[in-house]
Amino acid sequence: MKISPSILAANLTKLSESLGKLDINAADFIHLDIMDGHFVPPITFGEQISAAIKKETTIALDVHLMTSNPEAEVLKYIPLEPHNITFHYEATKFPVRLAEQIRKSGIKPGIALNPSTPIAVIKDIYTFFDLFLIMTVEPGYYGQSFLPNSLARIAEFNELRKSLSEKTDHFPLLEVDGGVNADNAVMLREAQVDIAVAGSFVFKSDDPCAQIEILKGK
Ligand code: DX5
Ligand code: ZN
Repeated sequence: MKISPSILAANLTKLSESLGKLDINAADFIHLDIMDGHFVPPITFGEQISAAIKKETTIALDVHLMTSNPEAEVLKYIPLEPHNITFHYEATKFPVRLAEQIRKSGIKPGIALNPSTPIAVIKDIYTFFDLFLIMTVEPGYYGQSFLPNSLARIAEFNELRKSLSEKTDHFPLLEVDGGVNADNAVMLREAQVDIAVAGSFVFKSDDPCAQIEILKGK
């Protein structure tokens, strides 16, 4: 299981120091939580802080847009050449068109599902996305508890991914986000999660890399 530390949970006044604590051999990605004060209540940071983060690290960026109007927001993150740009299913009527636009830019399109969005919605959009992000908390804040129905949702996703991959020859990544810690990491690894985002568990420690190793079961 790869780990994508959410920089939102680090000390935002000491970004450079926090990024310096992430070793490329431990942190597979840096997760950027973009919140617009509209799709979710808080505002975090945008493309300029994200560009500053990119300058400070060689670790691949994992962009998570928790914004309304992702059609406009996506354009701001394409120049950063992240590994993926993930927008929310609940935020757009035209997910396929936007996915194709991201793919044309050479970036993996990702789509995030809130905990109350049925997993079955992936069926009709499956081949257009390289990454599905299953939210394991409601988006908006770091430090929340992992929602108990998440494991059943991950299992449902895996069943669907199995049958759809046989039909389409497409096998997208499964990422989970919210409340990931040492207690649930074992279950997530067993559930074939490809990437787990972790904010507080990684950054509320003096040794983020050691925390990442714990999540990886090393
Ligand atoms: C929640 C964000 C998450 C959050 C993760 O809205 O999308 O990425 O920062 O933080 P933890 O691991 O503390 O739940
Ligand atoms: Zn996130």
